Amino acid sequence: EFEVGLRPVSFDDYIGQDQVKESLKIFVKAALKRGEPLDHVLLYGPPGLGKTTLAYIIARELGVNIKITSGPAIERPGDLAAVLTNLGERDLLFIDEIHRLHPAVEEILYPAMEDFALDIMIGKGPGARSIRLNLRPFTLVGATTRAGALTSPLRDRFGIRCHLDFYKKEDLVRILLRSARILNIVLDEKAAERIAACSRGTPRIANRLLKRIRDYAQVKAEGVITEEVAVEGLKLLKVDSCGLDQDDRRLLETIIEKFGGGPVGIDSLAAALNEEASTIEDIYEPYLIQEGYILRTARGRIASDKAYEHLGIERKRPQSEE
Ligand code: ADE
Repeated sequence: EFEVGLRPVSFDDYIGQDQVKESLKIFVKAALKRGEPLDHVLLYGPPGLGKTTLAYIIARELGVNIKITSGPAIERPGDLAAVLTNLGERDLLFIDEIHRLHPAVEEILYPAMEDFALDIMIGKGPGARSIRLNLRPFTLVGATTRAGALTSPLRDRFGIRCHLDFYKKEDLVRILLRSARILNIVLDEKAAERIAACSRGTPRIANRLLKRIRDYAQVKAEGVITEEVAVEGLKLLKVDSCGLDQDDRRLLETIIEKFGGGPVGIDSLAAALNEEASTIEDIYEPYLIQEGYILRTARGRIASDKAYEHLGIERKRPQSEE
């Protein structure tokens, strides 16, 4: 899905998220100096901001192997036990979507994280007992869209917690120019700024737009992405001047047209959009909330004045002052 060539491979290659990067660099150096495994790391924040990429970088900087899996992929405790017993000394285990671990699986992760041990039950009923199996010391890197979705015993076992936030526009410009160089795309600085402004603060989106606009440029503009070509390409991709795409606009329109602008509960909204509530909460909504298109209140989501203005819809009744 993600071009291997575009993925930065070291902290020095990795653009943006400066605070996260600087602290991880120090923790990695310290662990290396002591010859110990790095403490367990929780990476949380919206999708597409580079959590998996950071896990790869941490492993590389530690000089260890990385094993990649995800919460939903680990169905039974035995599956996790198999993964854990196969890890080498100080290896890194990356669990994406760690908030979706089955509770029975999560249970065996606690002693694994805390004591590098597996507690295995043998037998059933009154004769049942558990034996403890030692594991080689390892580092767990967990990723989730929302730290709040983790159970607190799991969250508490991560010594290092890093919150990834949407990228600044300047950082997205640098990422786009870097990607263009790697992909041999001629990209103007002004064009990069246009694309960056439409990328919802998200490198994955920026790189995807870049590739599609390259297609457009190849067919229509001899392969060169000027500002004008970028603007035309973005139009073709139905990304508007504020960087909102069709899904974003559909979400805002639904709140306004089906629910009178809100407040509307997440479940009603999900039903109207025919989406999972968690998809709205984790994928669509964070950027719209950060940019002030949606307000989250105790009674539900409200479309803001900015949302009405952006869509060119007149408010039927004034927003109540609460
Ligand atoms: N490509 C995607 N994300 C990136 C980042 N944070 N730094 C450099 N290149 C990237």
